[in-house]
Amino acid sequence: MPSSVAKPLHTPSDITASNAAHVADALNAILADTFALYLKTKNFHWHMSGPHFRDYHLMLDDQATQILGVTDEIAERVRKTGNTTLRSIGDIGRRQRIRDNDKEFVSAADMIAELRSDNLALVEALREAKEIVDEAKDNATSGMLDGWTDQAEERAWFLFEASRTG
Ligand SMILES: [Fe+2]
Repeated sequence: MPSSVAKPLHTPSDITASNAAHVADALNAILADTFALYLKTKNFHWHMSGPHFRDYHLMLDDQATQILGVTDEIAERVRKTGNTTLRSIGDIGRRQRIRDNDKEFVSAADMIAELRSDNLALVEALREAKEIVDEAKDNATSGMLDGWTDQAEERAWFLFEASRTG
C-alpha cells in the first residue's frame, strides 16, 4: 500500500518524526487544557453574579475570546509538524488536566480565584512543553509558546487585580 494511503494526513516536516510526535503530544495536552479553560471561562461568564457582575462578566468574555483564538493556533501547529490533533469533546475529556467545575453555584470570588489558578497551571504546562519543543529544535512552536504564555500570564494578572478587596 502506498504510504500516502497508509498515512493520508501525513505532512512532510524536517523535524524528526519522533521529536515531532513528542511535541504533538505536549501540544495536544495543552490544547485539551485550553479548551477546558475556554469552557470554564464561558461557564463563569454565564453564571456570574453579585455586585461586580458587569466588570467580571465582560472581562471573562474578553478572556474566553482570547483563549478560543489560541486553540486554532495550537491545533494548526500540530498539523504543520506532521501530526494529528484533537477530534472531539471526548478527546478533550481524555487529555485535559484542568478540571471542569460543574457546581450549581460558585461565588464570584471563587470563580476569579479558580480561573487565576487554572491560568497559572496552564503557564506551568506551557513552560514544560517549551523544554520538549526546544529539545526538538522546533523554533516556531517555541516562539508561539512564548506568546501563549504571555497571554495566560496577562489573564492571571487581570484576575489577580480583580480579586483585590482594597
Ligand atoms: Fe456572552
